[in-house]
Amino acid sequence: MISLARLNSNTFMSNWRWIRLLAVIAVGSLIVSCKKEQVEPYKKWGFSKPDYFPEPVYNFDNNKQTFQKFTLGRELFYDPFLSSDGTVSCASCHANSHAFAGHNTALSPGVNNLLGTRNSPSIANMAWSPSFMWDGGINHIEVMPIAPLTNPVEMNETLANIIAKLQQSEKYKKLFKEAYGTEDVTDQRVLKALTQYMMMIVSNNSKYDQVKHGEATFTDAEQQGYELFQQKCSQCHTEPLFTDYSFRNNGLDQSFSDGGRFLITQNENDKGKFKVPSLRNVALTYPYMHDGRYYTLNDVLNHYATGVQHSSTLDPLLENGIPLPGNEKTLLIAFLNTLSDYHLMTDFWLAEPKH
Ligand code: HEC
Ligand code: HEC
Repeated sequence: MISLARLNSNTFMSNWRWIRLLAVIAVGSLIVSCKKEQVEPYKKWGFSKPDYFPEPVYNFDNNKQTFQKFTLGRELFYDPFLSSDGTVSCASCHANSHAFAGHNTALSPGVNNLLGTRNSPSIANMAWSPSFMWDGGINHIEVMPIAPLTNPVEMNETLANIIAKLQQSEKYKKLFKEAYGTEDVTDQRVLKALTQYMMMIVSNNSKYDQVKHGEATFTDAEQQGYELFQQKCSQCHTEPLFTDYSFRNNGLDQSFSDGGRFLITQNENDKGKFKVPSLRNVALTYPYMHDGRYYTLNDVLNHYATGVQHSSTLDPLLENGIPLPGNEKTLLIAFLNTLSDYHLMTDFWLAEPKH
């Protein structure tokens, strides 16, 4: 009897302990999951090729991807300390809030508010780009940062000065050590780290992408716009990256005031040709064209419909412009709006680090 009572009370005690333990676990995991929800980024860190994208041009063979190098690259990308007067960072002209293009101005100011001659393009999906700049003047992403870092109207600094500045910084000493094992700052380390960050800027979560994955459906207008796009635009703005990376003259100028590809090749046939820009996030990255001359998509479509200028290098596809009768412009714009990737702009990993 006594032993039975003891047994019962023991069982009761151990049950009670279990209940308490379970309660603690439940509350604990609730806290963890709430916390997780606050900080959990929408995608995991690390470069991965979206399944319907082609193989990227860049590979990490000579720049093994690590979180520490990426973190260093992100720090450098957002740091105006790299510019000669400490006012301009890469992000000044390639802002995550603007799909990594400029701040919706035709030209983006560099140090001392100086302006260049070309519009800041979005730098999303650079891993797939075989060449860089509107004229393709740079053919490797790892040397790409040298141009803005040293351009007098952009960041106006010398590599030697940048290295000297970074070498004196306690913050960067630590970051270089974490990334590369020693505190040494070299131009290679700077350029490779910046590349690691840029390669992670992958835009593949627009409504268009969700439709590709069967997670969303186009409205009737978007679907009709998509079909028009495939007939009239995709020869040059080829899916899924919305560019074929070729250089073409789409009829903006007869005078070739900016020689474009000609400045690189000195070939007469390249006058006025520019790299076909990707149209991913195009609704967000106005103004448009290499000089930012058009502020709205409607202006762009009016150009193709009735404004194409004839010249010796005009693309043969645009000989008669692109007629867009009736409501075709409205339908095309409905489709182009589905290329906006709002996840990219709020991506946890790509955002400016908070200290
Ligand atoms: C003052 C504005 C400005 C700053 C600062 C700037 N860029 Fe740019 N970026 C541009 C412009 C303008 C272009 C196009 C230049 C051209 O085609 O002549 C460009 C082009 C690029 C491209 C090529 C894009 C393509 O589609 O070909 C990459 C990549 C790039 N920048 C990365 C960077 C990095 C990395 C930094 C920082 C080290 C940086 N930029 C700083 C304005 C800027
Ligand atoms: C023959 C090739 C070709 C065709 C066809 C073509 N484009 Fe383009 N597109 C270009 C080139 C080249 C540029 C860049 C020109 C420049 O800046 O000098 C461009 C630029 C653009 C831009 C500006 C993007 C930016 O970021 O500045 C938009 C928007 C655009 N095209 C939309 C369209 C649409 C919509 C169609 C179909 C109605 C179309 N294009 C058909 C070659 C083409």
